[in-house]
Amino acid sequence: MGKKPPENKTDAELRRKALEKLNPYTIPVENLSEAEVRKLAHELQIHQIELEMQAEELRKSQTLLEESRQKYLNLYDLAPVGYFTLDEKGFIHEVNFAGAFMLGAERHSLINKPLSKYIVREDADLFYLHRKRVSETGNKETCELRMLKGDQPFHAQLESRAIPDSKNNINQYLIIITDISARIEAQIKLKEINETLEYQIKVRTKELLQSKKLESMGIMTTGVAHGFNNILAIIDGKIQMLMRENKGREKLLEELRLIRSSVKDGAEIVRRMNKFTKVKEDRDWFVAIDLCEEIKSTIDSTHPGWKECAEREGIAYTINLDGVKHVSCIMGNPLELREVLINIIKNAFDAMPGGGTLSFSTREENGSVVLEISDTGIGMDEETQTKIFDPFFTTKERGTGLGMSIVYGTVKRHGGKIAAQSQKERGSTLILSFPAAKESPGITKSDHEPGKVTPEKRGLRNGILIVDDEATIGKVLSSFLTGEGYNVVFIDNGAGALDLLKKDEFDLVLCDLGMPDISGWDIMNVIAAMAKKPKIGIITGFLNASDDFPGNKIKADFVINKPFELDNLLHSINDSLRD
Ligand SMILES: Nc1ncnc2c1ncn2[C@@H]1O[C@H](COP(=O)(O)OP(=O)(O)O)[C@@H](O)[C@H]1O
Ligand SMILES: [Mg+2]
Repeated sequence: MGKKPPENKTDAELRRKALEKLNPYTIPVENLSEAEVRKLAHELQIHQIELEMQAEELRKSQTLLEESRQKYLNLYDLAPVGYFTLDEKGFIHEVNFAGAFMLGAERHSLINKPLSKYIVREDADLFYLHRKRVSETGNKETCELRMLKGDQPFHAQLESRAIPDSKNNINQYLIIITDISARIEAQIKLKEINETLEYQIKVRTKELLQSKKLESMGIMTTGVAHGFNNILAIIDGKIQMLMRENKGREKLLEELRLIRSSVKDGAEIVRRMNKFTKVKEDRDWFVAIDLCEEIKSTIDSTHPGWKECAEREGIAYTINLDGVKHVSCIMGNPLELREVLINIIKNAFDAMPGGGTLSFSTREENGSVVLEISDTGIGMDEETQTKIFDPFFTTKERGTGLGMSIVYGTVKRHGGKIAAQSQKERGSTLILSFPAAKESPGITKSDHEPGKVTPEKRGLRNGILIVDDEATIGKVLSSFLTGEGYNVVFIDNGAGALDLLKKDEFDLVLCDLGMPDISGWDIMNVIAAMAKKPKIGIITGFLNASDDFPGNKIKADFVINKPFELDNLLHSINDSLRD
C-alpha cells in the first residue's frame, strides 16, 4: 500500500511533526529479516486501517455535533420567548432572535445596551427590585411589567436566574421574557365583562324589587280606590239629591256645593290612583305617536304658563331641544303620554325654583325609542330615587305624590320602562324607553271612537234594573231615577240579577262591575246571549272610562265612573234609551 502525498499545508506540517517524533524510535529496518519486515508492514497496514476508521468515527461525531449545535441555535433563536443574557450591571450580553424581535430591534444593536432601556419608565422600580431579588437569592424569580417595542408598550413576564461561572461567582443572568399582552388584555376584558354583568344584575334586581314593591302597592291602592269610590259616590249622590230637594235655600246649597267640591277633589285623587293601578292598556285605542312631535307640542301648549309665571318672578328657564332627533314612532295613547310628559316637566320645574335648564333628547336603541328628560334642579338623594315612583311619596309640602306613580303605571302599560338618575344639587334625568312601532304615524289602530256604541233600535219602556253590591249606592240611584220617572228595580247581587233578567224584561241594566261571585262582566255575557237585549250601563269604581272589557262578548252602551254626576248619569241613560 503506497503512501499518499500530503494533501495540504496542515497535513504536511502534521507529517513533519510525526517524523520528528518517530526519529528516536526508528526501527532499524536494515537489520530486520525479510520475515520481520513483512510482519512489520502487515502490522503497519492494520494500524493504518484502524487509524482511518477512527478518523471516520471522528468525522461522524463532528457532523453530529454540528447538527446538534445548529438545532440548539434554532431552538434558542426561534424560541417563542426572548432569551437574554445580562452581565452583572444589567447590560445585554446575548439575546436570541425572538428577544430582539420583541423589542423591535436588530440583534447586534442590543448588545451592550442596558435592558432597563426597554422597560416602561413607570415600571423601572419593579425591574430594579426583581434583579435585586435574583442576585440576593440566586433563585429563579419572576415578575410582570411593561416593556417597550419601539415606543409601543407591551406586557411582559420576566423569569430570571443567575448563572454561576466555574468558580461559582455570579456575573451573568439569564432572563426569559414572554409577551403576555394577550393574556393581560383578556384579563382586562374579562374584568370589564364581569363589572358590566354585576352592574346589570344590580340594575335588574333594583328594577325587580321596584316592580314587586309597586305591584303590591298597586293591589293595595286598587282596594283603597275602589272602597273610596263607593263612599264618594254615596256622599255625592246624597248631596246631589239634597241639592235637588232644597232648591232655593241658597245658604244650604252653598254649603253643599263646598262639600261637593271636596268630594270632587277626593274623586280626582282616586282617578289618579286608578291610573297608577290600571294594569291593562286598551291597546285598541293605541295610535302611532311621533315622540318628537309630542314633546314639542306639549311644550308649546304648556310653555306659555310657565314662561309667564317665571317672568313674573324674574326667573330664567331654558328649554333645550338640541338632543331631540328623529326616531321611530311608538304605539300609545296620546292623552296618557301627554300626561306623562306634563308630570315629568312639572316635577322638573318644581326642582328648579331658581331657574335652570330643561333638556330633552331622543334616540333609538335595540328596537326601543329612548327619551331622556333632564333638569338642572335640586336633584334627589338615594332614598328619594328609590321611592320616586311610589304612590303618595312626596317631598313637597303640597305634593300629592301621585305624579310619578301615574307616569310609572302609564309607561308600564305602554310596554315601556322608566328609570330616574340623579345627583343631589346637580339635577335629575328621567329615562323612558318604549318599544319602537312598526306602523307609520297617523294610522289609528282603532276604528271606533271612545264612548260611542251602536245601540239597537228599541221601544222605550222605562224599566231599569240596578245591580250593585253596595246597597247604599243602589238606594241612592233608585230614589233618584224613580224621582226622574223611571221604573226601577234594585238588586244587590249578581245571581239575583240573573234571575230577574230571566223573568222580566228590562230596557236598561245599570250594573256595577266588581261584585263578589257573579260580576258585572258575567251579567254582560248573559245579556249578550239574550234575544231581546236590554241596554247596558256600567257604573264602576274600577276602570277608567272604557266600554271594552277583556273577554267580553258585548259592549256596554255607556260607562260612568264613580263617583258620578247624577245629571251625567241621567243624560247617558236618556241617550241610550232614546235610540
Ligand atoms: N325632577 C325631579 N327632581 C327632583 N326630585 C324629583 C323630580 N321628580 C320627582 N322628584 C321627587 O319625587 C317625588 C314624587 O314626585 P311625584 O310623584 O310627581 O309627586 P309630587 O310632585 O306631588 O311630589 C317628588 O316629591 C320629588 O321628591
Ligand atoms: Mg309631581
